[in-house]
Parts: sequence; C-alpha cells; structure tokens
Amino acid sequence: MKELGYYNGRIEELSEMMIPMNDRACWFGDGVYEAQLCRNYHIFTLDEHVDRLFRSAAMLEIKIPVTKDELKKLLNDLVQKMDDGDLMLYYQVTRGSGKRNHAFPKGPANLWVTLTPKSINPDTTPVSLITAEDTRFLHCNIKTLNLLPSVMANQKAISAGCYECVLYRPGERVTECSHSNVHIIRDGVLYTAPTDHLILAGIARAHLIAACKKLGIPVSETPFTLTDLRNADEIITTSSTAPCTRACQVDGVPAGMKREDLFMALHDEIFGEFMRDTQ
Ligand code: PDD
Repeated sequence: MKELGYYNGRIEELSEMMIPMNDRACWFGDGVYEAQLCRNYHIFTLDEHVDRLFRSAAMLEIKIPVTKDELKKLLNDLVQKMDDGDLMLYYQVTRGSGKRNHAFPKGPANLWVTLTPKSINPDTTPVSLITAEDTRFLHCNIKTLNLLPSVMANQKAISAGCYECVLYRPGERVTECSHSNVHIIRDGVLYTAPTDHLILAGIARAHLIAACKKLGIPVSETPFTLTDLRNADEIITTSSTAPCTRACQVDGVPAGMKREDLFMALHDEIFGEFMRDTQ
C-alpha cells in the first residue's frame, strides 16, 4: 500500500478510510497520539514512543484497548504492508465513541494508525524562528490531540517564512516550539527546559541529551529565557521527524551559529544512531 489507514482492525488506503462521526476525537479531540519515523521497515525508538503513549493515556484515564506488546506487533505488521519502508508512523487512541456528552462513554477506546511515505532529512541548512506567547493549557506533558494553539503558532511561523515558532510563558521563559523542543548552547553547555507540565518530554530531546553525554557536552535541564535564546551560541530544535535542526535567526535577527563544531558533532551522533538502528 502507498498510504495506509487503520481503524479498530479495519485497513484501507488512507484516502478511502471513513471514521465514525461519534468518535470522541471528533467531538472533543479526546485522545492521545504518537508520531515517529520508520526506515527500511524498521521503526526507530518504538519502545520509547509506545511507553509515552501509555503514559499520556493513563494521565487522561483512557484505557488503551491493546497491550504494549500487541500494539508494537500491530505497528510492525502494518509497516510490512507498505510499498516503501521509509515512513511516517502516526497512531492515536481516542476515548471511544458515543453521542456528544462530556461524561466518559462506557465502550472501549478506538485505535487509529496512519502510515505515509517520509524519509529523514539530514540537511544541516539553518532555519529561522519566530517567537510567540505560549497560550496553551498546563498539561503540555500529555501528548493530546488538542493542538489548536500549536497549529495557530505554527501557521504564524509559516506565514513569516519561518520553520518554527518558539513559545514563551510569563517572565519570557522559553517552553518549547509548536511541534518540537528547543535547546540552546551557551559557553559549551546545552540548556534545555526541564520536563515539567509546560513541555512535552520529547523522545528526540532525550536522544540529544544522550548524545551530549556521549560527546562530553555538559547538560543543564534548567529554564532559559528569550534573552538567553537570542544571545545563545547555538539554537537547536528537536523532534522525532526532524531530530537535530539548527537555527540562525530569531524574529528576523541573526542568532546562534557560533559553535558549528558542537552542532555538527551532535547532528552526526544523532543521525548516526538513527541510521544504525534502522539498517
Ligand atoms: N511533535 N513538543 C511538541 C509540542 C511536539 O508536538 C513535539 C512532537 C515535540 C517533540 O517530541 P518528539 O521528540 O517525541 O517527537 C515537542 C510531533 C512530531 C508532531 O506533533 O507531529
């Protein structure tokens, strides 16, 4: 198949797949999700993403209708149905179906999966960022389907011809970006926001920290501000689909780009791991 859609056991070409209107995703965006890459039919960091999906679901009292092992087997089986092994794997669990009613429905949760062609991009061309106030709720550690403020922030970046929008809370504390985490290097140390309720604990972030440890780059998981961002030696964004991206501009002003040696070492380590694990 070229683009696969899965819904509670049904498998069809994605464009043909029909979803019942009373799925809670339609009423409330009531669900949790994961998005990750697959290369050569090998899903990268599957355990970590499945663990996070179960953590997100537990925080919202959503009971995932399969075990972790069953879900991993299903995802691996679905990948084998594809014409190409380089894929974006997206899956979500929604809190069942029923008439629109805020109270939880009685029935089981619904499992959705989509598989679409995508290859990792090792390009190191720097990107531009804009900044905006973080107007999201206070449960950003849960990977929920409720992404409207993120969608609005991302569109703002796109309209400005930029790659990402860096979000900040009162006191100009940088949290993360609309669909990625953001980190800075200053005086040879990588600073990254702590994994509290204001950010998603990114899997790529964890791999960036591991790469720093391997390369002997000190890591400080402490909040940093917009001023720190603007004055950083390097600015790096991470996500599972773009695991190590360098920024050269913030709100139209040149920024970062002062420690190419550290950026390239981290980039090569992170992409090297991805290639090795998906051979
Ligand atoms: N986004 N922060 C936010 C708000 C995100 O949406 C994401 C991922 C990340 C990075 O998480 P990870 O490293 O686990 O991919 C951080 C995905 C890619 C998305 O929504 O498509």
